[in-house]
Amino acid sequence: MLIKRPQDIKASEITPESTFRQRRMLLKTALAMGLIKTADLSAQEDLIPLNQKESGNREEPFPENGRLNNLKPWPSNVSSEPTSFEDVTGYNNYYEFGTSKTDPASNAHTLETHPWTVTVEGEAEKTGTFALEDIIKGHTLEERIYRFRCVEAWSMVVPWVGFPLGDLLKRFEPTSQAKYVQFFTLNDSDQMPGVRYPVLRWPYREGLTIEEAMHPLTLLTVGLYGQVLPNQNGAPLRLIVPWKYGFKSIKSIVRIRFMDEQPQTSWNMANAREYGFYSNVNPDKSHPRWSQATERVLGGNIFSARVPTMLFNGYAEEVASLYTNLNLMTNY
Ligand code: MTE
Repeated sequence: MLIKRPQDIKASEITPESTFRQRRMLLKTALAMGLIKTADLSAQEDLIPLNQKESGNREEPFPENGRLNNLKPWPSNVSSEPTSFEDVTGYNNYYEFGTSKTDPASNAHTLETHPWTVTVEGEAEKTGTFALEDIIKGHTLEERIYRFRCVEAWSMVVPWVGFPLGDLLKRFEPTSQAKYVQFFTLNDSDQMPGVRYPVLRWPYREGLTIEEAMHPLTLLTVGLYGQVLPNQNGAPLRLIVPWKYGFKSIKSIVRIRFMDEQPQTSWNMANAREYGFYSNVNPDKSHPRWSQATERVLGGNIFSARVPTMLFNGYAEEVASLYTNLNLMTNY
């Protein structure tokens, strides 16, 4: 295991303990009081599938770019400064646009994000194909500063904009058979040159247990840095699951499926020994080819520091209770 030497820690990286505790207490209290998870769902209309909507009855299109206003702040417990906008939007993984880190920023302009629909299917009372605008409407957009840890042992801090996925999923009224949720990315070789190559099984797919999907930290994301998501970061709609490795955070979602059995996921299908279903950030569970005990922090001249990785990426207080009966070493 790699141990961080004290001289590697910059003074600016150290948050006074009192500040850190205060933030943590704020987040804990907010979660306990249900302040964070309870969007005012009563203010939302029923979701109507597109084929049942009158054509004149369409919402204003969600903007394709530009600033998002009236964002609700989130009580973040992250002590370090956010990674720069340039790094967050210039160093990406989005294999549909190429496998190098700079490919998505160069190539993803061909993705057409408007109009956009999401098809909901499986174990839920309300299913169908819904307009992006109807999905977003009625949810309060929040700015949440999250740590984001990639399986390749680098990390960043990002001010994402979105709302809790669970608030949306409840609107589809999942049945008691809905034990898991699967997500799919668009799969269109005209817009996505990378899907012409079999580097992964397309469409890119991911999955969560229903408890993980409903957890108030799981964010359905439409923006970053106060702006609409750039295409390379998964516009117009992506997932952010901050206690899991970054590949669980699937981009450009077009399909959501409620399921009674554990869903297939692209990385698990590609290499089950290296990528499990859960993929919780865990410094004690090495990837077969490298340690996960530390991470390089994206910043400055690409990577500025190596710091110890935290269990559940630092969100253990909020999410560890999801896994009390699970052996994290065998269920990685
Ligand atoms: N979603 C799709 N559809 N295709 C991808 O290649 N890469 C994943 C995840 N979501 C990926 C994806 C990986 S490996 C990571 S680390 C994150 O997106 C990267 O998100 P970012 O580019 O916004 O930092």
